[in-house]
Amino acid sequence: MSWTELQADIQKCNACKLRASCTQVIAGEGNTDARVLFISEGPDEKEDETGTPFSGYSGKFLHGEIRRRGIPDEDTFTTNVVRCYPPDGRDPEPEEIDACWQWTEKILALVKPKIIVTLGKYPLSALAYRYGFSKKLGSQIKITTIAGRSIWVEDKHFYVYPMYHPSFATRSRVRREEFAGHMRFLATSLPGWLERP
Ligand code: URA
Repeated sequence: MSWTELQADIQKCNACKLRASCTQVIAGEGNTDARVLFISEGPDEKEDETGTPFSGYSGKFLHGEIRRRGIPDEDTFTTNVVRCYPPDGRDPEPEEIDACWQWTEKILALVKPKIIVTLGKYPLSALAYRYGFSKKLGSQIKITTIAGRSIWVEDKHFYVYPMYHPSFATRSRVRREEFAGHMRFLATSLPGWLERP
C-alpha cells in the first residue's frame, strides 16, 4: 500500500469519538523511506483547522530543532498516536490511542524506521506496552528521567529514543535546553545506530 492510499484510508477513519469533534484527520507527513520516525501525541488546534501536519507552534519548534541539529528532513517521518485534534487540546485517552493504533501499525509497516523518537509520555508508553519493553522503563514512566536515553527493541529491530513533548520543552529555558541536548545527542548517535544490523 502506498502512502497516498494509506493516507486516504486514515482520513476516512471514524474509529473513536474524536472524529465527531475534530475538523479533519491528520495522518502525518514525511518520507516513507525515512529511517527516523517521530511520533507525538496529537494534532493541535491550528493543524485541525488547516489540515497541515506539524504546522502549529509545537510542530514548528520540533522541525526547527530537527533541522538545526543537522538531521535531514528527507530522513524523517512525523506522526501522532491520535490523528484527530482532542477537544481543547486535552491529552489523548487510552481508548483513542487504541483505536488509532491500527494506523500507527500501518505507518510503521510502511516506513520501517530504524529509530522511533517518542515525543512525550503517551507515545512512549503506547509503544512500551505493545512492544514489551515497559520493564526497561521501570514501574512509572517519568519522562524527565527517561528522555535522552535510547532503548534497543530486539524483537522489532529498532531503537526507541524518548524525548520531551515539544510543548513541555518550550515551557521553560531549562527544558528547552534539555530538549536541544537530546536532539543533539540523537543527531550525533544516528550514524552508529543506523549501522546496527
Ligand atoms: N502537533 C502534532 O501533530 N502533535 C503534537 O503532539 C503537537 C503538535
